[in-house]
Amino acid sequence: MRPKQIFPGVYSVGRDIATENSTPGFRVYDERLLKSKGREYRLWDPHRSKLAAGIAKGLKRFPFSPNSNVLYLGASSGTTASHLADICPNGLIYCVEFSKRMMQDLLQVTMRKRNMVPVLADANLPANYLHQIARVDILYQDVAQKNQAEILLKNSELFRPKFAMLSIKSRSINAVESPKKVFKREIEELKNDFSVLEEIDLMPYDKDHVLVNLERKTKGF
Ligand SMILES: C[S@@+](CC[C@H](N)C(=O)[O-])C[C@H]1O[C@@H](n2cnc3c(N)ncnc32)[C@H](O)[C@@H]1O
Repeated sequence: MRPKQIFPGVYSVGRDIATENSTPGFRVYDERLLKSKGREYRLWDPHRSKLAAGIAKGLKRFPFSPNSNVLYLGASSGTTASHLADICPNGLIYCVEFSKRMMQDLLQVTMRKRNMVPVLADANLPANYLHQIARVDILYQDVAQKNQAEILLKNSELFRPKFAMLSIKSRSINAVESPKKVFKREIEELKNDFSVLEEIDLMPYDKDHVLVNLERKTKGF
């Protein structure tokens, strides 16, 4: 089946989605590789990546392009970040992760995908990694913490991205309250600084998660 571009750097292949592999032959998780017309594609599993789940659920505004620089908070072992590295081959993906265990796995990926920059740091303390990071066009955040909106705001204040994408896991914030109420409250916190472009429920790929697509408001003085 021939890959068809649906967003810059993202393809549909039948019912699957894929990115063009910037490191042919190299696999990051157990994703399938597919060759078509001299190019190699990595199938992108929506059960393993909330951004892929968002696309599979009909995301409309895709902020990433080949030159984008991305600040990725909660990179883990690099599953989603590696697809962003494929999508933004001329940009840098700054991968912030605070678990040393996860960082060991992430380093195996960043050694091959050279536009991924590993940053061992706590996303709650952006001033600690400010000096390691140049321009940020898009902030992508997927951290299971109690203060998810607060982390995004702290980082966007310093790095001033034009767009942000936030995956909210309601159970990390409050395991007993209704997810809808938790989402509403977190998103409300962002509205002074961001316009909400889309809010996508990630079921059936991830229970009690939404992906929120945001554009930062430019404020006058
Ligand atoms: C759900 S996983 C991320 C999965 C990843 N985004 C993906 O799609 O490939 C959340 C990650 O965030 C990391 N994390 C949680 N709190 C953090 C913090 N305050 N600073 C940096 N990383 C954090 C965890 O160690 C974990 O690896």
